[in-house]
Amino acid sequence: MLKKKTNLGFFPTPLEAMDNLSKKYPDYNLFIKRDDNSGLASGGNKVRKLQYFVYEALDKGFDTIITAGAQQSNHCRQTAAACAKAGLECHLLLGGNKPDVYNGNLLLSHLFGANIHFTGGHRKGEDLESIKEELESNGKNVYAIPYGGSNLLGAYGFVDAVRELKEQLNEMSLKIDYIFFASSSGGTQAGLKLGIDYYGLDIKLMPISIDKLGIEGKTLDEVVLELLFEGKKTLRIEKDYDIEDAKLLTGYNSSGYGVITENERIAIKELAKTEGILLDPVYSGRAFYGMLDHLKHNKIEKNSNVLFWHTGGLPANFYYSKDIM
Ligand SMILES: Cc1ncc(COP(=O)(O)O)c(C=O)c1O
Repeated sequence: MLKKKTNLGFFPTPLEAMDNLSKKYPDYNLFIKRDDNSGLASGGNKVRKLQYFVYEALDKGFDTIITAGAQQSNHCRQTAAACAKAGLECHLLLGGNKPDVYNGNLLLSHLFGANIHFTGGHRKGEDLESIKEELESNGKNVYAIPYGGSNLLGAYGFVDAVRELKEQLNEMSLKIDYIFFASSSGGTQAGLKLGIDYYGLDIKLMPISIDKLGIEGKTLDEVVLELLFEGKKTLRIEKDYDIEDAKLLTGYNSSGYGVITENERIAIKELAKTEGILLDPVYSGRAFYGMLDHLKHNKIEKNSNVLFWHTGGLPANFYYSKDIM
């Protein structure tokens, strides 16, 4: 049984054919799932997770939400907007030092009224507990969302997204063979995998790894596998998951998190010029490049139907403008 959620976005997000791009890669039929149009704060995948967090926070009487990420975190920007809508105080722990001028996601988080704490070299919530305790000692009732929103409750957002996808595929009489998407803190990937097994679809996930570094001493594959183990119990999925079910594709992250290369520039320009759709340089651009590489070099079966799950990230383009021109 899935948990209750608060509606914060526009769902279902559109599922569209990419006809122009399919002409460029005639061995494949290409589709896109537009979570970049999910509504909240200019869109993105994190609203699906936040709907569950905000429901639980309000239901249990919390008055404040705290979470963490990189300085250009989309997750933090969407959390700030969700808090504004839900009437919750928001505290964001962002890596790096306070810049003179706010830009991209950081600017938007500020506009949504978040209280921003700059945490230097810590961008994955290392200071979350200590700042939470400080807020609690000042009388706040604080609900903590982990880095990237990637616990089981957040992953439910993507179990539910598979239900949404299944309904769209049924209506369109369409079968998807592969889904490419950006995977970073693991919740999106774990949720999609659990959803595919829970709803009985036959789709191969192609999670493009964005970040080289793990979380709290675990590799990202291990983070995903733990979520699969936890999720299968709650959802009563009869499957023996192993590390192969949790693997990220690591061939595209060698420059490191948030370090933009020619690959991301190629990907952003290709989708923008063929379909009029914008990616971002950190997540969806890197993942899209990974998909293009698979299509160009026939690394996946020919004549298959391939879906790119667009997870958003638009505001970061304005921060990284020099790198993507
Ligand atoms: C635009 C975008 N795409 C993909 C992801 C990856 O999602 P997850 O952290 O659930 O792996 C993120 C995470 O921050 C993101 O901001």
